[in-house]
Amino acid sequence: MRMNYHVLTLFPEMIRQGLNTSIIGRAIAKGILSLEAVNIRDYAFNKHQKVDDYPYGGGAGMVMQAEPVYQAYKAVCDQTGKCPRVIYLTPQGRVFDQELARELAKEEELIFLCGHYEGIDERVLEEIVTDQVSIGDYVLTGGELPSMVMIDAISRMVPGVLSNQESGETESFSENLLEYPQYSRPEEWHGCKVPSVLLSGHHKNVDQWRREQSILRTAKHRPDLLKKAELTEKERRWLRE
Ligand code: ADE
Repeated sequence: MRMNYHVLTLFPEMIRQGLNTSIIGRAIAKGILSLEAVNIRDYAFNKHQKVDDYPYGGGAGMVMQAEPVYQAYKAVCDQTGKCPRVIYLTPQGRVFDQELARELAKEEELIFLCGHYEGIDERVLEEIVTDQVSIGDYVLTGGELPSMVMIDAISRMVPGVLSNQESGETESFSENLLEYPQYSRPEEWHGCKVPSVLLSGHHKNVDQWRREQSILRTAKHRPDLLKKAELTEKERRWLRE
């Protein structure tokens, strides 16, 4: 099953360029994903292609008008013959996490709506948006980067996007734990040696060491995640020692 993304934006080039390299670019080339950047300006209803106007009630900045956004959305619905979920990127939304990425990866079509200026006319948001999502507690200049962040994270969960080797990292047992440290050649660099267990060729010991490192790192840097991680009773005891 293919995942089809439709991004409604005033900066379609940003989306196209941002997602056509590396693993996501490869998946699009293979046809596992499709990505359509819809220029909201193409749906402007005046000859100047204006899509924003002053806010009622006054105040700084401009507001994206309802009708071009609505027409861009309608065009995607007509083209797909469906009414996909519409994700509006906003700092006011639910905070994005791996769980939401996994849930959204089950959809066949997703629409991302990227705001700019001081926001989008509330009436069209009420009419078409199904999910308001934030990528974190900071304010960006537009929804394009957040939508690319989400597309990257969701796509990793779509079957076939990661190679077998790459997907080893997403095993459920290691969920909610941070990554263990990695080393490559040379064996010694700036006087620092690679941990000897990694050179031992003893796979079981390597696995155990990596697991312990993941648990220790998570305990140190993200104790909030550790509460959600699946640790064995033995591991919990070891950690308390
Ligand atoms: N638009 C501006 N800032 C944002 C954020 N942190 N998350 C999602 N959309 C945004």
